[in-house]
Parts: sequence; structure tokens; C-alpha cells
Amino acid sequence: MNEQNFAREAAAKIKHKMRLTADRSRHKIPYTTKDGVFDDWSGDRITWWTNGFWGGMMWQLYHATGEELYKEIALENEEKLDANLMIARGMDHDSGFRWLPTAVADYRVTGNKASFNRGLLAANDMAGRFNPMGRFIRAWNDDGDGSKAGWAIIDCMMNLPLLYWAYEETKDPRYLQIATMHADTAQKYFIRGDGSSNHIVAFDPATGEFADTFGGQGYAKGSSWTRGQAWALYGFTLSYIHTKNESYLNTARRVANYFISNTPENGLIPVDFRQPADCTLEDSTASAIASCGLLEIAKALEQQGELSRTESRIYRNAAMKLLTALYENRCNWDDNCDNILEKCTAAFHDKEHEFSIIYGDYYFIEAIWKLTGEELFIW
Ligand code: GLY
Repeated sequence: MNEQNFAREAAAKIKHKMRLTADRSRHKIPYTTKDGVFDDWSGDRITWWTNGFWGGMMWQLYHATGEELYKEIALENEEKLDANLMIARGMDHDSGFRWLPTAVADYRVTGNKASFNRGLLAANDMAGRFNPMGRFIRAWNDDGDGSKAGWAIIDCMMNLPLLYWAYEETKDPRYLQIATMHADTAQKYFIRGDGSSNHIVAFDPATGEFADTFGGQGYAKGSSWTRGQAWALYGFTLSYIHTKNESYLNTARRVANYFISNTPENGLIPVDFRQPADCTLEDSTASAIASCGLLEIAKALEQQGELSRTESRIYRNAAMKLLTALYENRCNWDDNCDNILEKCTAAFHDKEHEFSIIYGDYYFIEAIWKLTGEELFIW
């Protein structure tokens, strides 16, 4: 099947399935499914970092179909997140994941002033996590003992676009300065010589000195957690898109080259590229996220003219390999099952693996929309 036919067929299946799923899940904020039914993380679990992806899926579907239902559900998700904005210790560096696909998307589509306000409050909170000595954005909270005050994680590259957005809207350079200083630190301390990435880097929060690295959600210290590689690949590409700093694109390409060379023959991505050889655990989310990043690298190179076109094809083909492998092997098209992607894994050492996770579905839809030209730019 050629690229366009593949994209059209996948998009049609997504639209058919999501119409049914959205209708029966309209008052939820899902994370995963149990027996094919979405759970709900509204209410006392509102501070969970993934609570913006459902809204993001709704905006992508609204953008592609114009159906009001999706807009209504997205707005409900956005408004529920206001409770999170009032819980200081429930705010972390993942503000980008929560408010870009909800409030900022709404503001971009409708110009809603309340949405602008939400986006800016979230950006201000994120900027407040910046450590000026180490030039990094603190990732997670702790119990108030400062034990994680010096921790930064590669995932944060995907949250930086909230600060780029705030800069673009307000022209206050502090947002841009914080985002680019963090990106520069990540380039130096997270990305290894071979293009792989650490998950967690710890700095001394008082002096800013580098202290240690941790395996985090991957297999072990020094390993290569695939979703972390995907966050790096797409995240540095997004920093390039917002700043046009070529070094970010080059870093994204280095991570992408490493990702491509480690992709198994069947195109299905493990949880960690350095997990034991006899371990078959997969993470479809890493594949969907990396596909989005690869397609954006391809687009960036395409725009650089004739000499970059051949290389652009390499990244586009790599994305197609991942997406067709997901489509043929890891998509659930049963009308009665709420999720799309199967075999998503949150962390290597968790008790449970290979289930559905909402951001897997979100990035799969975003990737397919990139191919059909129906994407709403979220990041
Ligand atoms: N940002 C956390 C994760 O990717 O699981």
C-alpha cells in the first residue's frame, strides 16, 4: 500500500472508532482501559501528568472533522484541569503535556481568553521550576525534603513548547531564555555520544554541578529507555521548530539515527533498547512518539532544499516503518474496545506491562494526521 492510501485508510478507521469511543467516554479523562473500557482520572486523580492527552485527541478529531462533540469534550477536560492549577504540589514540569493539548489548543483554535489565562498560569508555574545555577527545569516534586530538587528528566524536552508559546504570545524573553537554557543543558548532559539518552540526570541543586544519572523508567543506569529516546527525538525537533537553532535539529537527528539503527526488523519497539536479549517487552507509545518526531525532522529537512531531500526521505521512511508495524500488529479496531494501541508500557520495572495508554493513542493519531495533512499543531 502506498503512503497516501495507508494514511487515508488508517485515518478513516480512527475517525470511525473515535466517534463511538468519544461518545461513550465523554465525561471521563482516561489513562488506560480495563477489559476494553476507559478508566477515569478526573476528580481526586486530576494532577496525573497524562490528563491533557484526551483533550488533545478531541482537538485533533475536531480539527479533522469539525464535529462539535469533540470540542465540547475537549473543553470539559480543560475546565477540569483548573483544579490542578490550584494544587501547588500537584504541579510539576509536565505542564506542557497537560495544558498544551487542552487550554493552548483551545486558545489557538477559538481565541478563548480563559484558555489563554490557563496556558499562561501553567507556563509561569513551569518557569518557576527553573534552577538558575544548573540551568535546568526541575522535573518532579518530593516530600519537601529536597531529595529531587536537582533532578531533571529527558521528557521535559516535550514540555518546553509551553514556554516557547508563552514567549511567542507575550514577547517576554524570560520564557525563551529558560526553555533554551534547559535545552542546552539537556544537550550536554542527557544525550550521549552515540545518540542515546539518559532518562534522569541529577544535579546538585545548590551549586548546579552534575551529580549522577539514573535509569529511571528504563532497564538500568546507562540503558536506553525507548520512550525517553522518543521524547528526546521529538523534543529537540520541537526546540528547533520554535527557535530555528540548527544545533537542536542536529541533536534530534543524532538521536533519530540511533533510534533507527536500533529499531528491530519487525518495526516493533522494545521498552528499552538495552533490555536483556531474551526480554520481549514492548512499548508502542515510544514508536508512536518517535514517528511524530521523525516526520517533523523529515519536514524540516525538506524545507532546507534540494540537498537535504534525500536525507528527509530516510526519516520519513523510518516513520512509515514504525507506523505500518503499529497499524498491522498493535492497533485494536474493535468498536467495543475504547483504546486503539495495544502493548504500551509505562516503565520497565513496573509490575504491569503491555496495556493501553492514552498518550499512545494520542501520538498515533497525531502521526497519522501528519500524513493526511489534518493535524492541529499542538506543541
Ligand atoms: N513522562 C513520563 C513518561 O513518559 O512516562
